[in-house]
Amino acid sequence: MRAANSRGIFLPAGPGNPVGQNEWIPGEDNPALREARSPNLYIGRGAAGRGAIVVLVAGMLLVGCETQRATIATAPTAKPDADADATVDVTELGATPQTPVAKTNGTLGGPLAGLDAAELARFEAGRDDFAEEETVDDGIGPVFNEHSCATCHDAPVGGTTGRTETRFGRMIGGVFDPLTERGGSLLQDHAIGMVAGAAGTFTFVPEVVPPEANVRALRLTTPLFGLGLVDAVPDAAFLALARLEAFYSPATRGRPSMVTEIGTGATRVGRFGWKAQVPTLHQFSGDAYLNEMGVTSPEFPNENCPQGDCGLLVFNPQPGLNNDGTDVDRFTDFMKLLGPPQRNPDRVFHAQAGENAFRRIGCANCHTPALVTGYSPVAALSHKVFQPYSDFLLHDMGRLGDGIAQGGAGVREMRTAPLWGLSARTTYLHDGRARSVQDAILAHGGQGADARARYERLNPVIRAAVLSFLSTL
Ligand code: HEC
Ligand code: HEC
Repeated sequence: MRAANSRGIFLPAGPGNPVGQNEWIPGEDNPALREARSPNLYIGRGAAGRGAIVVLVAGMLLVGCETQRATIATAPTAKPDADADATVDVTELGATPQTPVAKTNGTLGGPLAGLDAAELARFEAGRDDFAEEETVDDGIGPVFNEHSCATCHDAPVGGTTGRTETRFGRMIGGVFDPLTERGGSLLQDHAIGMVAGAAGTFTFVPEVVPPEANVRALRLTTPLFGLGLVDAVPDAAFLALARLEAFYSPATRGRPSMVTEIGTGATRVGRFGWKAQVPTLHQFSGDAYLNEMGVTSPEFPNENCPQGDCGLLVFNPQPGLNNDGTDVDRFTDFMKLLGPPQRNPDRVFHAQAGENAFRRIGCANCHTPALVTGYSPVAALSHKVFQPYSDFLLHDMGRLGDGIAQGGAGVREMRTAPLWGLSARTTYLHDGRARSVQDAILAHGGQGADARARYERLNPVIRAAVLSFLSTL
């Protein structure tokens, strides 16, 4: 897989080196870094690799053998944590070293590489619709959050402006009530104002968090780059991933979020949203069109009742179905064909040592480095490896949970946030509370607490290397 020279090593293109160019890893002649580097970059440690490590550790205990030290990826201060790596490798999910890696055409916000002319035309038509501002005549409101998808998902189109929105509800006797009859759990913070119609004149006002709510949480807008790949992962792959996690590392295992696909009535693995509450991009499009913009469509035909008061809908100036589903299909096209974030091609010092430490202390147990898609009619999405650094499963995050029960997720459960594209972001975590990547790491609780503690115990050089690695994503 790699050829060594006197000063460093060169990696061929592949999932371990997705920028597709040879990468020089500094420090071949630095013993500390040599120790920190994992011996295998693509195949990683599957079950066989883990078995070999157990044997090596046992061998070391028996003979205390000096010559085996360099084989075990352990920085001096992290010895007790040497076995925290339970990363599920993409080959265990069905990929082979020959499976192609999905790429983006151009920069962030561009389409997937390898689309044909008809697919490119669909991407562009979808992007136009995604950025189009809807009006009251188009059916926006009566209450809504913004006039277009791109108002929140921008910089570039499809990304995130950092806009947060509010969810609320009430916890009574350990049971979460989304307060639907008071307009929950999602608050709509805009309204269309005064309307005059057959039922008379009425002024719609933005919703507020009602006094009976005792839970209130912010949600940060997530970027949408590469989500067509996530959409193209078969449910069976996520179920297999959850089983492998439970087998390798029960303490950090994830749980699939089982939800209903509205179009078919089938039970599916949810993977979109902070709580993995939605199973497909198509469903999220209809859901967002209704809940963010107040535009109804075939799968979401019922208007949101302002502050939960459905009686007020007699004043709705556009009571019929607002869209026949065409827009929903176009948003879906755009998001499906939107390319994934590309690794930052700048050579960042110590990034490889940082990635090794990231795995060693158990971050990659949940932030799964690579996944593989199943069959897709779009060739550029079909049977491709991609690197989201997420398992898209739910984890009990303890005090980092947002207190909202939604879809298949409990109040403390959150979807592992994908780390691709992290370098383009400025705020982190579901509510945007973290202003730095390190603050985000230090907020991990529940199943993430042990990895956080190991991160805190790393020596400062390796800790900085972990942040360097994350800055390449
Ligand atoms: C008011 C801001 C806002 C608007 C407008 C908006 N979104 Fe979002 N979007 C969000 C937020 C916030 C989230 C995270 C939601 C959550 O998990 O509860 C999100 C999440 C998503 C996701 C899931 C991404 C992931 O990481 O899993 C998709 C897909 C999406 N939006 C599509 C759309 C589409 C399509 C539109 C237009 C019809 C739209 N959004 C309009 C704020 C917005
Ligand atoms: C038990 C699973 C788990 C482990 C282990 C874990 N994380 Fe996370 N991580 C999560 C979840 C879940 C979130 C989303 C938290 C939220 O909803 O606010 C997250 C969020 C993040 C974020 C913020 C991403 C964003 O989009 O805002 C960063 C950065 C991060 N993790 C880095 C790490 C690092 C570094 C480690 C190792 C020290 C680690 N994580 C270990 C589950 C995990």
